[in-house]
Amino acid sequence: MIGVTDPPPRKTVLPGAALPDLIDRARSARGNAYAPFSGYAVGAAVLADDGRVYAGCNVENAVYGETVCAERVAVLAAVAAGARRLVAAAVVTPNGGTPCGACRQVLAEFADPSLPIAVAAPGGAARVYTLGELLPHAWGRRDLDATTPPPRTPPPRPAPRMRGPDPAARRR
Ligand code: THU
Repeated sequence: MIGVTDPPPRKTVLPGAALPDLIDRARSARGNAYAPFSGYAVGAAVLADDGRVYAGCNVENAVYGETVCAERVAVLAAVAAGARRLVAAAVVTPNGGTPCGACRQVLAEFADPSLPIAVAAPGGAARVYTLGELLPHAWGRRDLDATTPPPRTPPPRPAPRMRGPDPAARRR
């Protein structure tokens, strides 16, 4: 985007084994999923910058709208325990489905766009995305700052000058 300079994204330093371990944690959390209505069990795990891992599963409700996704359960558990920066995430879904938009937004509050998100089906290989890939041009706290310059747009072009008599005048 022209006109707004973001600080370069911080490099995520990952211990080599972090993602496979995180996928395992997500897979076991999936075993606790409470999904009697959809039958779609999800497990998630997030790694905080202090090395701690938090897991979550989806928790459905008979009032369907009160359902909470596995990813948000994991992020909220991390934040409730004092974590503020997440450096990796893993999700295990029945079919390798990626995190929903709401969960992407909640992850974005606590992670850089470079956050790696490994997504796997229970028996399959993981695909690794970045948060920035899944949620480009994310809306964030900096957008709350009224002093942030808006994206630069070209100045409005002057209205074309009319040649000849004003057609409206002719009708008068
Ligand atoms: N679900 C998640 O846990 N994470 C997602 O990112 C997408 C959907 C859950 C919510 C609901 O319990 C079930 O999957 C079907 O939507």
